[in-house]
Amino acid sequence: MKVLLLPGSLRKESFNAQLLATARRLLPSGVETTLIEAAQLRWPLYDGDIEAKGIPQEIQTFGALVTSADALIVASPEYNGSIASPLKNTIDWVSRLRPVPWEEKPVLLMSASPGGLGGMRAFSHTRVPFDGLGSYVYPTYFSLGRAHEACSGEQFKDEKKTIELKELLTEFLGWAKKLKS
Ligand SMILES: Cc1cc2nc3c(=O)[nH]c(=O)nc-3n(C[C@H](O)[C@H](O)[C@H](O)COP(=O)(O)O)c2cc1C
Repeated sequence: MKVLLLPGSLRKESFNAQLLATARRLLPSGVETTLIEAAQLRWPLYDGDIEAKGIPQEIQTFGALVTSADALIVASPEYNGSIASPLKNTIDWVSRLRPVPWEEKPVLLMSASPGGLGGMRAFSHTRVPFDGLGSYVYPTYFSLGRAHEACSGEQFKDEKKTIELKELLTEFLGWAKKLKS
């Protein structure tokens, strides 16, 4: 099983990147992972004039990674109650490739925020483009509130949250495997 872990923030000390690193550590052994670094997402804003000259090579390379993954785990901040712009830009660029790499991909949505709600208000927005592109968004989401206190590199300080995430990851991968077969 190949899992691609995708952040929605470009920030160096991103809590969402830390959440992804924690998720990667908690995945069952035998799962092959590719963790995307924020620096890899620094493509230009989607622009039809750029596209007219050819989809940039780095987007094509990233699209091939999405295509080869069996499942995606996305950890993205909530911006103003909605989807974060770096993630939306990534979804939009990759949606221009054919066949569309997002199609039929199982997707787990997660979010971390210093706020108490952990970015959960954005989930219903973040799933919209994935739904529209034919991805299979898992119905349960994971949010981490008070992230500045809860995160500690590749782990959470709270054991309960760690167990919650580990269980969700196992459920999600089981579901993704069923979809694949
Ligand atoms: C433009 C902008 C809008 C934001 N809106 C929200 C919001 O609606 N809800 C929330 O919980 N945090 C919001 N935040 C705070 C982010 O959750 C916080 O900056 C977080 O650290 C971003 O994620 P990161 O650490 O992965 O970069 C916003 C931040 C920015 C820059």
